Amino acid sequence: MNVFKPTILALSVLASASAFAQVNVSIDATKPGPVINKNVYGQFAEHLGTGIYEGLWVGPDSKIPNTRGWRNDVVGALKELKVPLVRWPGGCFADEYHWRDGIGPRNKRPVKVNTHWGGVAEDNAVGTHEFFDLVDILGTEAYVNGNLGSGTPQEMAEWLEYMTSDSKSTLAEQRRKNGRKEPYKVAFFGVGNEAWGCGGNMKPEYYANLYNHYATFLKTPPNARPKMVASGGHSDDTTWTDVLSRESAKFTDGISFHFYTLPTGEWDKKGAATGFTESEWFKTLQQTMRMDGFIRRNVAVLDKNDPQKKLGFYVDEWGTWYDVEPGTNPGFLFQRNTLRDAVVAALNFNIFHAHAERVRMTMIAQMVNVLQAMIITDKDKMLLTPTYHAYKMYIPFQDATSLPTAVNNDVAYSVDNASLPGISASSARGKDGKVYVALVNTNPNQASDVNIDLKGQAATGATGQVLTAEAMDAHNTFDKPQAIKPAPYSAKAVNGKLTLKVPAKSVVVVSVDA
Ligand code: AHR
Repeated sequence: MNVFKPTILALSVLASASAFAQVNVSIDATKPGPVINKNVYGQFAEHLGTGIYEGLWVGPDSKIPNTRGWRNDVVGALKELKVPLVRWPGGCFADEYHWRDGIGPRNKRPVKVNTHWGGVAEDNAVGTHEFFDLVDILGTEAYVNGNLGSGTPQEMAEWLEYMTSDSKSTLAEQRRKNGRKEPYKVAFFGVGNEAWGCGGNMKPEYYANLYNHYATFLKTPPNARPKMVASGGHSDDTTWTDVLSRESAKFTDGISFHFYTLPTGEWDKKGAATGFTESEWFKTLQQTMRMDGFIRRNVAVLDKNDPQKKLGFYVDEWGTWYDVEPGTNPGFLFQRNTLRDAVVAALNFNIFHAHAERVRMTMIAQMVNVLQAMIITDKDKMLLTPTYHAYKMYIPFQDATSLPTAVNNDVAYSVDNASLPGISASSARGKDGKVYVALVNTNPNQASDVNIDLKGQAATGATGQVLTAEAMDAHNTFDKPQAIKPAPYSAKAVNGKLTLKVPAKSVVVVSVDA
């Protein structure tokens, strides 16, 4: 008998659904595919709103318990996500950031205006040394984004030297004087951001020339060379990937790409984070699933220009972007985070896994308090969002080996004469040798029986977690911080056949019991 052992809440969600849809998913464990780079689970932390200041950094003198200024509750929760890579300091902010403002005694650092994000004072309390301290505390790696928009090649080259040089140069000695003897490890280095927009409103050919110009002077010791990131295109545009992969391949390891999920697809009226209709749920998922086509089209361009597959396709900004929460600073991009966001995250993970060969790094925007955040804070309080839970459930996919996975007879989810796949599936062999299966049910009204046809692997059952709720916009609040969280999930194979009951509007991640 199939034993789904969810909470009472999930049981009632199941019971309220109409008859189960029957779906077959085939997984071939005899044909391992590319490794899902753990950096697919990277996160973006920008000097934006309370994303860094308040959300992560409270300063060493704060009453909020902290480690050298980084709040203990937030970093403790983030450590549990095994975040592999953090991008900093922006975003649009990066192209106005001058790294020398953020080194040396904090009380002597200049105060600037954060012109992109709310026009607030930026006192530079978090600079290079503080960021790398966070990287150490989290046990993660650093993706530093340089300033091409308003900086010079010299400034960018000197920052890289300051961070990575082990020599006796004046810049390396200055780093030592500022408290860091050993060079920092910069895993990725971005040369500008969104050059087509806030990074300078450039044409791709102009940026490619500038990229090559700057990259020529970005020197590091040979063993300390970061992966270099050329800032690419967005949404339905492959021109940037085409131009950069032809003109800048010699100087880059990968080309970035940004795509945000707006329920309406319109920037002037994006849609609300909570209190939305089923039509808005549907349109949000429809929008987010465009990611697959964008990746396919860009990868086709890369395959033409870079058949050796040297270049990665880095989706280094993605996630939901709603109308800001009423009553909050519009420049702070604060929004609530619901079950819908967890489903969006999981759908994107499954898409990234399917393109693991080229999609070697992605960054959700953003880590704390901004856009599709993992964590929301209010003074000394903190809550974990449904997106946080989705990231945690998918940890076994970090550096796992993808397995060919096909949904064979999907029952589409339809609204207003439009349809989406009802079930999204992904599977991989984890580093622990187990087979992991991730399933997303996009349909908020109907549960599914997913029959798993697993080739090359015994299956006596499956054990893991399910994330679902009664309401499409279920979310955690400071009064009810555990309103939505994962529940244990298990199923037993019957006559060697494994069927997973997947509740309506849910994310299920299990390991297969051999
Ligand atoms: O993530 C917020 C902003 O969105 C970033 O700063 C920018 O790169 C993008 O437009």
